[in-house]
Amino acid sequence: MEKARFPFASPLRYPGGKTKLAPTVAAILDAAGLGADVCFAEPFAGGAGVATSLLLAGRVAEIALNDADEAVAAFWSAALNETARFVDAIRTVPLDLAERERQARIYAELRGAFSFELGFAFFYLNRTSRSGIATAGPIGGAAQAGADKLDARFNRETLVRRVVTLAERRDAIRVSCADFATFLRSLRSETPDRRVVVFADPPYWAQGPRLYRRSFDASEHARLADALLNDVAAPWLLTYDDAPEIRALYPGVETRPLSASYCAARRKTGAEVLFQKTAEATFRKTRMGNEKIGKALEESAERGGVQRKETV
Ligand SMILES: C[S@@+](CC[C@H](N)C(=O)[O-])C[C@H]1O[C@@H](n2cnc3c(N)ncnc32)[C@H](O)[C@@H]1O
Repeated sequence: MEKARFPFASPLRYPGGKTKLAPTVAAILDAAGLGADVCFAEPFAGGAGVATSLLLAGRVAEIALNDADEAVAAFWSAALNETARFVDAIRTVPLDLAERERQARIYAELRGAFSFELGFAFFYLNRTSRSGIATAGPIGGAAQAGADKLDARFNRETLVRRVVTLAERRDAIRVSCADFATFLRSLRSETPDRRVVVFADPPYWAQGPRLYRRSFDASEHARLADALLNDVAAPWLLTYDDAPEIRALYPGVETRPLSASYCAARRKTGAEVLFQKTAEATFRKTRMGNEKIGKALEESAERGGVQRKETV
């Protein structure tokens, strides 16, 4: 029942993907009196599991997808705006190791410039790589000897259906490629007619550095806290792994553990937590607090507490 109401809509497999959280997020929006006319903004969109599910469920009117990784943004742009070409490529691209190598070369060479080819290469690698990590090895390994082969997660017609279904809603989807702070600031002026709700799913404290090309170091976590606490007037939700270092950045913000069924479905070991600030902010806090904490986190990172950026 819930599955039908909140469809699995994203064409991407994403490490840390949040689609299963869509019903929880919808319930939080309900409780906060945030109706179906809102614009749901994801500053760290990735596969945008929650936003796309809520949009197709009719629970939000518009979604704003932002990711600082240009390959991710290029994917969304290509799939939504060059849909016929994208669909043709899904239907005809060879699913073998030679093609995967060709796509990996495109992915490496075209980074930095926004193009259809980069977006499709990212999608191809996402669907044919272990755990959906573009830079990990192919599903089935170099010998293609495993039970699952390269094409195990590339059901052409399912993917075509997801791309087409979302492209039909392209007027309700905005895509951008910016640092989260720029994106969050832009929401104030760009969506004057709608109430905005921010759903932030950043790279996690413990795992993030290993999973995404664009990742976080300790000071980035503090910078995000500053932006959410000081620059965002709209209601916001934030998901994280439950680490004391992160809780220290959000003093006084309401939290809730993510449900056992959600965590079990993700086969993850560590607990995750959702921070929520659903009343619109009318205050500005001093930045000093989080700057100090950021410095402490930097020092802890230097002592080996967390890995540095860009490890995949
Ligand atoms: C946890 S993933 C998001 C997963 C997504 N919620 C889903 O359901 O698929 C984090 C994303 O943040 C992006 N990212 C990392 N640093 C960023 C930054 N400074 N600004 C914006 N996006 C960033 C990464 O490229 C990655 O796609």
